[in-house]
Amino acid sequence: MAMVSVRDVAQRAGVSVGTVSNAMNHPEKVSAAALARVTEAIEALGFIRNDAARQLRNGRSLTIGLVVLDVRNPFFTDIARGAEARAAEAGLSVLLANSDESPVRESAYLDLFEQQRVHGVLISPFGDITSRLEQLRSRGIPAVLVDRGSTDASFSSVSVDDVAGGRLAVEHLIASGRRRIAYVGGPLTLRQTTDRLLGAREAAAEHPGVSIEVIEIEALSVLAGRRAGAEIAERDSRPDAVFAANDLVAMGILQALVMRGAGLRVPEDVAIIGYDDIDFAAASVVPLSSIRQPAELIGRTAVDIMLSEAADPTLEPRQVEFRPELVVRASTQS
Ligand code: RIB
Repeated sequence: MAMVSVRDVAQRAGVSVGTVSNAMNHPEKVSAAALARVTEAIEALGFIRNDAARQLRNGRSLTIGLVVLDVRNPFFTDIARGAEARAAEAGLSVLLANSDESPVRESAYLDLFEQQRVHGVLISPFGDITSRLEQLRSRGIPAVLVDRGSTDASFSSVSVDDVAGGRLAVEHLIASGRRRIAYVGGPLTLRQTTDRLLGAREAAAEHPGVSIEVIEIEALSVLAGRRAGAEIAERDSRPDAVFAANDLVAMGILQALVMRGAGLRVPEDVAIIGYDDIDFAAASVVPLSSIRQPAELIGRTAVDIMLSEAADPTLEPRQVEFRPELVVRASTQS
């Protein structure tokens, strides 16, 4: 079935194409009778306006492209919520894309957003996409990194100091009497996981008698955490605490230690702390201590910066880095 055009609507309503356009965008400029005829024609013909074409004619889309690493992770949906709230205040909407930590998907979405001429791009990058973002910027599409700092400061970024976050987590475990700490995180190509480990090692180095063992996992997921937890549960000599690179991993470890008959108690036998402080952390069967990231504020701030750079491309890139916050719950309190 052919697409219904504005011309079809105008013909049926017996008005000009300009009157149809005004009826949709500036109804105050159209007589009541003409408005009624246009409305009837739109409904009768099933006309759907092509906002993308209209926005492109105006030179800039009213949508923002957001690429996250893992849409299953509530941390990123919280970022999206903050981005959407701020975008809506500016009359924009957000197209959410999931790179699934795949450079191929990441690149395909950046191409799609360029074809859509989005207002700007927010991205939690997996690969090195600096040159691709520079290409977008040269074509009038600003980009802001979320959840990652910009290594060469060539792009604005909004993130949390993950080294400080890793330090906070391990200092808390040490303060609660733990000495044999396992860091469960990966892939260790991801800046977030390596920065958290760096902070963990810095804290351990300041306390004689404290050891950090690294258990690298293939993804920051509940399943990967469950596998690591099962391996820890089967050992004779176990860590007395686990620092998980995010809350999903921590929840998988908790399940393996407590819920699968391993007979271990959290925190008595093994304390666990996660990272992000997603809603599930507090709701977990053993409420999870975590390092909180202000995810919605990260999303909101990134849109703020992107809008200012869309309005003035000469602005210098800004690196906004929030402080992580320790949230103590039952999983580390003996
Ligand atoms: O995507 C991996 C992790 O990095 C998320 O859980 C969140 O912590 C982000 O910073």
